[in-house]
Amino acid sequence: MAKARVVASAKTKMPGKAELRYQSGFGNEFASEAVEGVLPRGQNSPQKVAHGLYAEQLSGTAFTAPRTVNRRTWLYRMRPSVAHKPFEPISPKMLRSAPFDEVPTPPNQLRWTPIPIPSPSQRTDFVDGLITMAGNGNTHTHSGVAIHIYVANASMTDRFFYNADGEMLIVPQMGRLLLRTEMGVLEAGPGEIAVIQRGIRFRVELLEKEARGYICENYGALLRLPDLGPIGANGLANPRDFLSPVAAFEDREGDFRIVTKFQGRLWAAAIDHSPLNVIAWHGNYVPYKYDLANFNCINTVSFDHPDPSIYTVLTSPSEIPGTANVDFAIFPPRWMVSEHTFRPPWFHRNFMNEFMGLIRGEYDAKAEGFVPGGASLHNCMAGHGPDAETFEKASKAELKPVYLGDTMAFMFETRFVCQPTKFALETSQLDHQYFECWQGLRKKFKRPGG
Ligand SMILES: [Fe+2]
Repeated sequence: MAKARVVASAKTKMPGKAELRYQSGFGNEFASEAVEGVLPRGQNSPQKVAHGLYAEQLSGTAFTAPRTVNRRTWLYRMRPSVAHKPFEPISPKMLRSAPFDEVPTPPNQLRWTPIPIPSPSQRTDFVDGLITMAGNGNTHTHSGVAIHIYVANASMTDRFFYNADGEMLIVPQMGRLLLRTEMGVLEAGPGEIAVIQRGIRFRVELLEKEARGYICENYGALLRLPDLGPIGANGLANPRDFLSPVAAFEDREGDFRIVTKFQGRLWAAAIDHSPLNVIAWHGNYVPYKYDLANFNCINTVSFDHPDPSIYTVLTSPSEIPGTANVDFAIFPPRWMVSEHTFRPPWFHRNFMNEFMGLIRGEYDAKAEGFVPGGASLHNCMAGHGPDAETFEKASKAELKPVYLGDTMAFMFETRFVCQPTKFALETSQLDHQYFECWQGLRKKFKRPGG
């Protein structure tokens, strides 16, 4: 890759890590300017924008989407986003996209150990480090998801990325990330999530030597907060805990590349300036971050383990009521207090398809084998649940209040079967012994009087 020729870095007005500021709220109509007086008053597209800037709208939904779900942002920038050379295809490396038809999808329960970080001699940035594990749906029809794991050991310096196929829900598991986007800068590390929507240009800097995490690439409707029904007006993920950046820009010229994922393939175009050149913006189509520690976890205070939908942070609805394109759910630190109840998740077969990851600690349904950075996949109607050791322990446990402190698991739960990639089924990280963890569940039934 060409080395960046930076000729105007002195004018960069991008904050460092210590200067990060955020605006609070989910889907708000935000307004932010890095230079005072740039935002037009009372209109979006004046004949002349202040300081010789260009006005540009970024539409994240159809113009005519209902007001409650309509998302768009007006950007006031040094050059419009069209100012680049034509795109040419580049190697996707380990990135895959719908349709996921490389290999037949087995009905088996699947589990993986963590994908290793590349050695320092293999310089791998966030885009090069995208490894697709599974997915479903169709990028053409805006349905389904792709699930990736990223492993990186280098910052993106001279190239930028945007995804035209879907928004990216980033779940860091190791290493903090600085996400420099058109709308400003967000920092996200393990225990937090960040969402960068379709089309938004960004680059990722590593704040530590290495980074690994999970990504749900959502081809479907934009992620939103779930309705709360009888829970009421508060609870689960509260809107005020979602943070969006304030305007910040780079005034850099050089030999850069802009990489896009478009219709399943990667493309790159030469660009002679940083596309992170937005001085001011207003709108509600803005990247955001969320600290999972702020999740107001609701659970039983009487008996029985509720359905895991009670842990939903964000949902991408489909056209079928209550049947999400994808739900993002977490299993955070929490008290277990239920009486006369088997407390871990129960044995289960599901219409929906469950891809799980672990950010830290232990997951209460497995005694071993599911480790931070690893993953599991239980597809439509595949039996799953606690392993034999966990079943034995939980069946005999004294039911006093117990605090599960060291844990943060999550689930991407999607309506279509998650079809693993060829890599996912052939990698040495695939745990071929996973089925063994349930083989110790012996018959205990004794016929009365028998
Ligand atoms: Fe399940």
